[in-house]
Amino acid sequence: MDLDWREKLKLLEQEIGSFEMSKLEDVERFRIKYLGSKNVLKDYFALMVQIPATERKEFGAVINSLKDLANELFTKSKDQFEESKRKSEPVADLSLPGLENGQGSRHPISIVMDRIVEIFSKIGFEVAEEREIEDDWHNFTALNTPDDHPARDMQDTFYLKDFAQHLLRTHTSSVQARYMTQNKPPFRILAPGRVYRNETVSARSHCQFHQVEGLYVDKGVSMADLKQTLLFFAKEMFGEDVKIRLRPSYFPFTEPSAEMDIYWGLKDETDHRITKGTGWLEILGCGMVDPAVLENCGIDPKVYSGFAFGMGIERQAMLLYKIPDIRYYFENDLRFLKQFKPIMS
Ligand code: DAH
Repeated sequence: MDLDWREKLKLLEQEIGSFEMSKLEDVERFRIKYLGSKNVLKDYFALMVQIPATERKEFGAVINSLKDLANELFTKSKDQFEESKRKSEPVADLSLPGLENGQGSRHPISIVMDRIVEIFSKIGFEVAEEREIEDDWHNFTALNTPDDHPARDMQDTFYLKDFAQHLLRTHTSSVQARYMTQNKPPFRILAPGRVYRNETVSARSHCQFHQVEGLYVDKGVSMADLKQTLLFFAKEMFGEDVKIRLRPSYFPFTEPSAEMDIYWGLKDETDHRITKGTGWLEILGCGMVDPAVLENCGIDPKVYSGFAFGMGIERQAMLLYKIPDIRYYFENDLRFLKQFKPIMS
């Protein structure tokens, strides 16, 4: 080398450092020249043999540092170009139509339950919700349901496998026991919620369904209060002209007990089918709270009396919306679910 190699490499360093890269093509030229397969640095390496043996190590190190420099400058410029390209691209096409956000709708069961709560809240009933996993005492024993009562049968009740004496509540009446043991009368409560029974699923019955329970305990509550309350409910729910009747019945936790029917009529064939040709349709069970139940829950039956009722929701929603099969409620098919509008009061 005619010039001192150190001088030459210094010039090369300046050349690399001052390489103008104002366009993307310049960056590519830079890459080919200093980093490509036939780059200038390789030519310099080839000159190694002409360097005195004692200086070769230093020579090699300087060439390598120039390679690092070229690499660094190349990466920096390339990144800068890519960054500015990214920035200049539109983030989104603002002229595209917006994405529609489906509004959703209430489940028919929720609509009917809300309506029932609304009706009873007009006459002072407050919502008291409770657990779905209950113990045997609140679901059965407190409610006067003896150990050998068929409702306790393994066939009807889902018991929890590893949790002795616990079960999925079979009715919302369990809330009566919960509430009465924790509160002092007078009270008027409404307990809407889900219940479970080990039943074969068909068009008319399901292993899960919904009930609304009512309970009123005070001094001097009578059967007349119960009947008047239920008549008020039926009129609000099914119209001013609705007819109701109370039929004597039996429930372990009420005495006397009754079932309430509403007159649905016999307008068409479906009416005949669902009312078994009578025009009357059973809506709920009810009665005067059995004194033994009050006592079990720590309320003195000599001072207080009360009435209770419990109604199924699925059946009422089937009537109101003409839903032919109970299984539709639990399949979550959007085509079914989006059809329901709230019931206006
Ligand atoms: N728990 C009853 C059932 O699931 C319904 C019922 C009947 C509730 C009479 C009551 C009542 O509160 O008084 O079949």
